[in-house]
Amino acid sequence: MLVPVGHEGASGVPERFSNPGLPPHVPRSADLDEGAARRAEKQVATLFGVSMVATLIFLVAYFTIDVGTNQFIPGIGLANLSNIVLGLTLAVSLLCIGLGAVHWAKTLMPDTEVAEDRHPQRSSDEARSEAVATLAAGGDASQLARRPLIKYSLGGALGLFALPLVVQLAGGLGPLPKADLSTTFWRKGMRLMRDPGMTPIKASDVTLGSVFHVLPEGIDKSEHVLEEKAKASVILISLEPALIQVPKERAWGHEGIVAYSKICSHVGCPVGLYEQQTHHLLCPCHQSTFDVTKDCEVIFGPAKRPLPQLEITVDAEGYLVAASPFREPVGPSFWERG
Ligand code: FES
Repeated sequence: MLVPVGHEGASGVPERFSNPGLPPHVPRSADLDEGAARRAEKQVATLFGVSMVATLIFLVAYFTIDVGTNQFIPGIGLANLSNIVLGLTLAVSLLCIGLGAVHWAKTLMPDTEVAEDRHPQRSSDEARSEAVATLAAGGDASQLARRPLIKYSLGGALGLFALPLVVQLAGGLGPLPKADLSTTFWRKGMRLMRDPGMTPIKASDVTLGSVFHVLPEGIDKSEHVLEEKAKASVILISLEPALIQVPKERAWGHEGIVAYSKICSHVGCPVGLYEQQTHHLLCPCHQSTFDVTKDCEVIFGPAKRPLPQLEITVDAEGYLVAASPFREPVGPSFWERG
């Protein structure tokens, strides 16, 4: 049971709930004057209303201001307008909800000190009904039922404030990768170029047992050269044709010269270590090992699928070229299965 402190003499109030020395309660203007209470109510509603307007501006700005554009803003200099508008509107929105709630509590909610008579822990019917009565009294004291303007404006402000979170989740995580993860720069007819150096490779220059790190022709002119290199890197290996145990591997190569993606199918490290004696390719990150004579199947380590093979041939001048793009996604298995 909540008992207002300082009401000595009220029937049934134990002595220990008497005023411990608090100054006498001074009623506020809103306690005495219904006009003042209505003014306070309007001020609270105005603050919640400003919050709603700020949230709506946030939503409009989110969809209309280009995120990637920096502009000259007086007093600030070159800055990202989108970030500034979104940050300010969110701040104003949240601030006004907070100010409205504080003003509401200070002007309209009860401001008397109360003490609660703590009974031993038990759930008697009497205690339950007291709790319900206390909650109902609290609800009445908040004046939510009596002041629908506050109720609806607060509901609107809090409801709208959830929308920025929803749109951030729906659209703020960046664009979908679409086919970016499943395609590379390689196209049919592109020459295989040495990395580094970007010079073409003649099949006749590839001696038995040699290894080349290779990139597609023209990748150095790409707008996103680093991203493209991260997907299109290839390792070229020359084997004795009789060692190749998989017909498809032999067919996709050229006289024992085979090309495989250098991006590990575990989590994407470059598979750059070639053991010439065993014909094994090793990934230095977690030791996945691929057998080049068996179409780069995994013989050790955490990788779950072979390295994708790039089908190659030679052009009219004898240079090695791609016979087609990669026919399966390169890189970690977790994104190629989507
Ligand atoms: S990234 Fe190659 S084994 Fe883990």
